[in-house]
Amino acid sequence: MSKTFKRYMVTSALPYANGPVHIGHLAGVYVPSDIYVRYLRLKGKDVLWVCGSDEHGVPITLRAKKEGITPQQVVDKYYKIIKESFEEFGISVDIYSRTGNKIHHETAAEMFKTIHDKGGFIEKTTEQYFDTEANQFLADRYITGTCPHCGNEKAYGDQCEKCGTTLNATDLINPKSTISGAVPILKSTNHWYLPLDQHQAFLEKWILEEHKDWKSNVYGQCKTWLDRGLQPRAVSRDLDWGVPLPLPNTEGKVLYVWFDAPIGYISATKELTPDWEKYWKSPDTKLVHFIGKDNIVFHCIIFPAMLKAEGSYILPENVPANEFLNLEGDKISTSRNWAVWLHEYLREFENQQDVLRYTLTANAPETKDNNFTWASLQAANNSELVAIYGNFVNRALVLTQKYYEGKIPQPSLLTQADEDVFSETLKLKKSVETQIEAYKFRDALRDLMQIARIGNKYLADNEPWKLAKSNTERVQTIMYVALQLTARLAILSEPFLPFTSAKLKKMLNIEAVSWNDADKKEILAVGHQIGTPELLFQNIDDEKIKSQLEKLEQTKLDNAKAEAVAKPQKPVIEYDDFVKNDIRIGTILEAQKVPKTQKLMQLKIDTGIDVRTVVSGIAEHFKPEDVVGKQVAILVNLAPRKIKGIESQGMILMAEDFDGKLVFVQPSAPVSNGSTVQ
Ligand code: MF3
Ligand code: ZN
Repeated sequence: MSKTFKRYMVTSALPYANGPVHIGHLAGVYVPSDIYVRYLRLKGKDVLWVCGSDEHGVPITLRAKKEGITPQQVVDKYYKIIKESFEEFGISVDIYSRTGNKIHHETAAEMFKTIHDKGGFIEKTTEQYFDTEANQFLADRYITGTCPHCGNEKAYGDQCEKCGTTLNATDLINPKSTISGAVPILKSTNHWYLPLDQHQAFLEKWILEEHKDWKSNVYGQCKTWLDRGLQPRAVSRDLDWGVPLPLPNTEGKVLYVWFDAPIGYISATKELTPDWEKYWKSPDTKLVHFIGKDNIVFHCIIFPAMLKAEGSYILPENVPANEFLNLEGDKISTSRNWAVWLHEYLREFENQQDVLRYTLTANAPETKDNNFTWASLQAANNSELVAIYGNFVNRALVLTQKYYEGKIPQPSLLTQADEDVFSETLKLKKSVETQIEAYKFRDALRDLMQIARIGNKYLADNEPWKLAKSNTERVQTIMYVALQLTARLAILSEPFLPFTSAKLKKMLNIEAVSWNDADKKEILAVGHQIGTPELLFQNIDDEKIKSQLEKLEQTKLDNAKAEAVAKPQKPVIEYDDFVKNDIRIGTILEAQKVPKTQKLMQLKIDTGIDVRTVVSGIAEHFKPEDVVGKQVAILVNLAPRKIKGIESQGMILMAEDFDGKLVFVQPSAPVSNGSTVQ
């Protein structure tokens, strides 16, 4: 019962403008949607693709607080970073808009008004959490507590990120304000609720019966919520950042961010074309939302309920949501800086967009969470892109220059093996299409790569370079077949590897081709002139990977330090106990490592009283030559003690940081040796 559509409306989740985008966003949402849309365009379909920044909600105001700037400055900063990095990465959206735009405020307000005037909301006064220190109601991420469903102690007021459940702040156990840390009080306030319970029957039929075709992770999550029974959900908030509520006497109230943000898809389309209604209101349009798994409930239940309540919009045909991507075995996290940031990758791997696109698609978290490692990026590049794709193309093009000055040679009779190469790769082309249309981009990429593998094997099996002198006729046929395959590969690569495809098409001198040109057996006519070959991919060496791993190692250390807390205080002592310590300033005259130990250093110190030997556990932190000449604090009346056969006559004082790093405790200006510390 597959319906045919006249046009496509594709949306990708609007990233919060509270930070740059990372590989998790790319693998989950933006790379798959880019593949899908590029494919549709190449097929000549009427398609619009919109995205933009999500500029409202608590994630923005929290970030502003953290960076010490205004929410407006936060969204301006990250809107620009994200938009520019998307462009450079080849994310080919028709518009990258923002929900801070006037047209969006108007569109969101209008949608609220329409639903309101139709009686689609219930207004209720309830008790909500209020922070008396900050003098503010606590919604969404302003409040954390324990999730009543899974016990996660860091659930937010609107959602538990661990089990994915949407929550109301009053569901949380042990709630705490994230602004002041205070335990909130309850205070009454009125809000507008979308009565999801009233849409339950419709949603059950629409999703559970009519959309059994949705991905199992999406369908499964929807079923869980529907089985649990939907509850009315507040769509207004007591906040000063967002779209103001378009009703009289509602000062200080804004739309809930998850009410306004998806409407951003519509406002962006409006901005793009006066014809926008065709894309949002005609049943001939196929609406597809690309999202990450934490967005499923909002796109499959809440937004459709809103659209249905408004009455004039179509609903999505599909909501392909991906699971999460981990990084080197750990959950990607913006706040813990555990991520590969797109704008940094673009700086550090210049002109290697397709390497990342390839790796992320080959390891896409389509059915389960997946793991990105730098080693997997290196392997994908070196042993697949370079060794197979690049090698095949380069051989075919270089030999064509060498033998025929870049002109496609005339073939003679094709052998069965030649014919098989054509038919197998045509079959693969059809399979790429089927997989893309089913949102199975990993499988589609595997099929594409199989075409390059076949080409590589074809040249290796036929070895035209060995026949060059003896059988020129056969060589012409082999090269003809290889070149047609190269052209097929160039066309079909576009959605996945757009930069490579463009380069290759340019080298083949076939810039204006469409997807279905790849159906032809002869894409390059005999005698067609091709250009100069260049390498498509470069090997990535171990050094490059090592430096990325070191960067992550540093992040781990920084986090450990940030998360560590000072040791608790020791029991109280009397002043008389303290003054028993005789601490002086001395100068280190000589230093050497104690043989056969890791940690110990033998020091000779001028204490002002005498010159004495001290054995100290600092050898892993300093080199002997770096400590000579330093003034240090030394406890001189500590009873002498033998360490590794050396008598240590005192102890130097060191400060130990949370991560175990040692530094000297020194006077802030030079003083005489023997000066007392008190
Ligand atoms: N900003 C949200 C997130 O990053 C996604 C919003 S999608 C939209 O999770 F539909 F609301 F726009
Ligand atoms: Zn939970």
